[in-house]
Amino acid sequence: MLRVEELSVCFGGLTAVNKVSLSVGTDEVVGLVGPNGAGKTTLFNAVSGLARPSSGRIIFDSVDVLRAPLHRRAKMGIGRTFQIPQPLHELTVRENLLVAQRFGAGQVDQQKIDEILEFTNLAPKGDREAAKELALTELKALEVAKALATNPKLLMLDEVLAGLETSGKRRFMAMLKELHQKFAVGILIIEHDIETISNLCQRVVVLNFGKLIADGAPDQVFRDPEVIKSYTGADHAGSR
Ligand SMILES: Nc1ncnc2c1ncn2[C@@H]1O[C@H](COP(=O)(O)OP(=O)(O)O)[C@@H](O)[C@H]1O
Ligand SMILES: [Mg+2]
Repeated sequence: MLRVEELSVCFGGLTAVNKVSLSVGTDEVVGLVGPNGAGKTTLFNAVSGLARPSSGRIIFDSVDVLRAPLHRRAKMGIGRTFQIPQPLHELTVRENLLVAQRFGAGQVDQQKIDEILEFTNLAPKGDREAAKELALTELKALEVAKALATNPKLLMLDEVLAGLETSGKRRFMAMLKELHQKFAVGILIIEHDIETISNLCQRVVVLNFGKLIADGAPDQVFRDPEVIKSYTGADHAGSR
């Protein structure tokens, strides 16, 4: 479904993503890990159409989308969430989903919205609550719900589990697993926690300083000395 080939993204003299090749199938949940500043979010931006690559290819469902605008990629089925939740604060939860649906799917389908609200446990908040009233877990659920409303084939999740406490994280993970089946979407998820990745993903890809350093089953990848070093090594450029 998604194939990225030798993709590079530069900001001035900084190569944030450096000749990265990876793929995600519809039937896969793939983890994307690496230290802060490794280029994970930039890779998501390049695939979704928010960052302009300097070279490489992005193939989605056999179509070269490298130069396709953001909205066309969304309509083709590339969905994503943002590291910092970005709801339209003054709108209700349902209205946020309607905006996302119109953008990504092109038409309004209230039944699908109801289904998504139910699935993400936001149904009780749907019509009453403005997005700005939500708690962190709910904001994260809304990020996922908005992405689902665009009717994606590929869902790219940028640290949706970060900041949640253990039981909240478990519930959220269970939801993501179910979502993968129920909505038949492939998932590429950025997450730091090794246990979470191992539990959720069949495969994990590791970036370090913009370069792909490992791609494989979690239990193998997390035993790789270079990966361990990247996780424990100090002094990463662009660390925040
Ligand atoms: N819009 C931008 N302009 C300049 N530099 C950027 C921009 N976005 C990201 N970077 C830099 O690119 C590198 C990768 O950042 P990012 O993709 O956010 O990393 P990650 O998500 O893995 O933490 C960092 O050094 C960051 O400072
Ligand atoms: Mg990031």
